[in-house]
Amino acid sequence: MNIIRRKGWEIRESLATPEAVFLSRRALMKGAAAIGGGTILPGLSSLAYAAEDATAGLYPAKRNESYKLDRPVTAESVSSRYNNFYEFGLSKNVYSAAESLVTRPWMVKIDGLVEKPRDIGVDDLVKAMPLEERLYRHRCVEAWSMTVPWTGFALKSLVDFAKPLSSAKFIRFETFLDPKMAPGQRSFFPWPYVEALTMAEATNELAMMVTGAYGKPLGKTFGAPLRLHTPWKYGFKDIKSITKISFVEKRPETFWEAAGPGEYGFWANINPQVPHPRWSQASEEILGTGERKPTLLFNGYGEFVAGLYKGLEKEKLYI
Ligand code: MTE
Repeated sequence: MNIIRRKGWEIRESLATPEAVFLSRRALMKGAAAIGGGTILPGLSSLAYAAEDATAGLYPAKRNESYKLDRPVTAESVSSRYNNFYEFGLSKNVYSAAESLVTRPWMVKIDGLVEKPRDIGVDDLVKAMPLEERLYRHRCVEAWSMTVPWTGFALKSLVDFAKPLSSAKFIRFETFLDPKMAPGQRSFFPWPYVEALTMAEATNELAMMVTGAYGKPLGKTFGAPLRLHTPWKYGFKDIKSITKISFVEKRPETFWEAAGPGEYGFWANINPQVPHPRWSQASEEILGTGERKPTLLFNGYGEFVAGLYKGLEKEKLYI
């Protein structure tokens, strides 16, 4: 049987970041890395970079053109000023508070059902992975969205690196716990932030570990130095500032399941027909434009991920 795969949300290349802007930024970044040993020059951007980031020279990475958008990239001045990072406060305006996040040295623990558990410095991990840039849509359950040129690597590469045992069924991610540095962690939430995916989801080509954005190392407000991005799921799955990655047999309880089980579930796949108790999911505000667009099933990424959920129809797959 002939199956036509339609990508209903591809955009004209002219709507993405113009190549000239991208390339000149690339030259600028290389120069900055050479002069400052990885320290960004004053005035280049208001986002802060870790002075000791030994991977700064790897940005920008080559774009993987397989992932197209149906709308322009959100300006960095917008996406980096409207964030959820509850470790640093409940408002969207957390970027200056998030500057207290210390991102180097930064160790990542890989443990659980793996051949050999290990602790690895984030720079060594990044250097061992094939970095690339992907244009992805990002949809929050609060019904706003943005599009970001993320840099990072396929989560599958990390899974291959970790060598999980066949008994591993889920991958669990954990954020740092340091209430001194992150005052939000003194609040009632069940810290630290935890998220998880099935192994099938984690090894789907869309699942991405993010280490940069806009052709630079990741700004702190975006969850430096290492976060997750699963563009077919609501943004709360995209855990920031990861310190621990565990391969486990049982489905972990996530931060939001523990905080509000009536409102948030494990799967959190985007579906315009399944409302959250507080927000309709039918449409979304495109940040920075004042425009609303209808929301698409799996955020428009169904051709990549719909197959993951065959046989799981009894699960609460959406929110
Ligand atoms: N990760 C941690 N550690 N802490 C958080 O508060 N918020 C989540 C997710 N990851 C959050 C987190 C939510 S609710 C969303 S919508 C996205 O990060 C927001 O990502 P952004 O600020 O880059 O848009």
